[in-house]
Amino acid sequence: MQELPSMNPTRIAIVGCGGFVGVHLVKQMLDLGYPVDGWDLEDRRLGELVGHKDFCFHHSDYSAPETIDDISKNHSVVIHLAALCNPSLYNTEDQRVIQSNFILPARLAEACAKEGSWLVYFSTSEVYGRTVSGVARGMGIEVGESNELDLLTEDSSPLLLGAIGSRRWNYACAKQLMERYLLALEVSSQLQWTVVRPFNFLGPEMDFIPGVDGEGVPRVMACFMDALLHGRSMELVDGGGARRCFTWIGDAIDGIIKILENPQASRGQCFNIGNPKNETDICGLAARMAGIYTQITGRDLPNPVWKNVSAESFYGPGYQDSDRRLPNVGKARALLGWEPRMTLDDTLRLTIDWFVQHYPVSH
Ligand code: UGA
Repeated sequence: MQELPSMNPTRIAIVGCGGFVGVHLVKQMLDLGYPVDGWDLEDRRLGELVGHKDFCFHHSDYSAPETIDDISKNHSVVIHLAALCNPSLYNTEDQRVIQSNFILPARLAEACAKEGSWLVYFSTSEVYGRTVSGVARGMGIEVGESNELDLLTEDSSPLLLGAIGSRRWNYACAKQLMERYLLALEVSSQLQWTVVRPFNFLGPEMDFIPGVDGEGVPRVMACFMDALLHGRSMELVDGGGARRCFTWIGDAIDGIIKILENPQASRGQCFNIGNPKNETDICGLAARMAGIYTQITGRDLPNPVWKNVSAESFYGPGYQDSDRRLPNVGKARALLGWEPRMTLDDTLRLTIDWFVQHYPVSH
């Protein structure tokens, strides 16, 4: 076990330990021998981890002032993951989205500044908003395909959100404000912070299947799995032309561990954690998932395999998409020695296999 230099000498706090990323992180930290204290309202994914001798699970949120005090006073490393981070909520649960992504974490950050603890805050790749070329195209300006123009770089890319009425950006705006607040607290009160910007992590335990272990609209992977498992067509929002880089959760967790084990290199930095080699548009994702699903299950695909839907009918008014999220991971490579490895097809195969094993197939 490598020593976390800032551990003093006790435990790591993970706020939001019961979500998809939290569960993988807790497991890896315990495997590496780091004791963890976790907070979450949700425990369905934690399973046997709850009984682990080095894991203390608090089945609660962290909003009470005494809980924030406890977390910041008794942990020299605090990891914040607790947030509403599902696009179907950004234009429907605006107030809760802004509270969970800015107002509550800001209180935690203030407490960490006071106590001298290091806050590792999970932000989002969505802070980049739209690409320069996407905005130009939206204004009717011709721009060619350009990886160079579209590459998202932590310390130089502009953060291009939309108008106030485009409520989808409530989430990215709250995350961005939180990033700016961390820097403000560093200047005023020497807060030690690190920001992680995740690019579409995929893997077992991701999201939920509506009506089975959650309600509402999950992210695209679970939406497509829900359709495949039930013999329904996958729905492509506005034709499925938006592009994403999907990142294997195991690669992502390695990156996070490298951040924790290299505090000198990590403090005061934002890091893209994503796999630029795994880029696909959403229509291409549907095609790959359909192929892998039939290989794994031998089952017939729905007819049609996918169909187009408008963003307004799928998400309601106020939704606007990120056209492309292509991460520059040069900084994580240079400062942490981190490189994502898992290919898109292997990432999908492992994730689809998990969904097939864990949910009933009904067609
Ligand atoms: C979301 C979050 O907002 C980000 O903060 C987070 O970093 C990111 O997921 C992530 O998983 O890391 P987004 O990529 O837009 O952002 O989330 P998805 O719901 O997975 O949507 C991806 C694309 O698929 C969008 O273009 C969406 O319109 C489309 N989609 C979604 C479909 O075409 N069909 C569906 O059934 C669902």
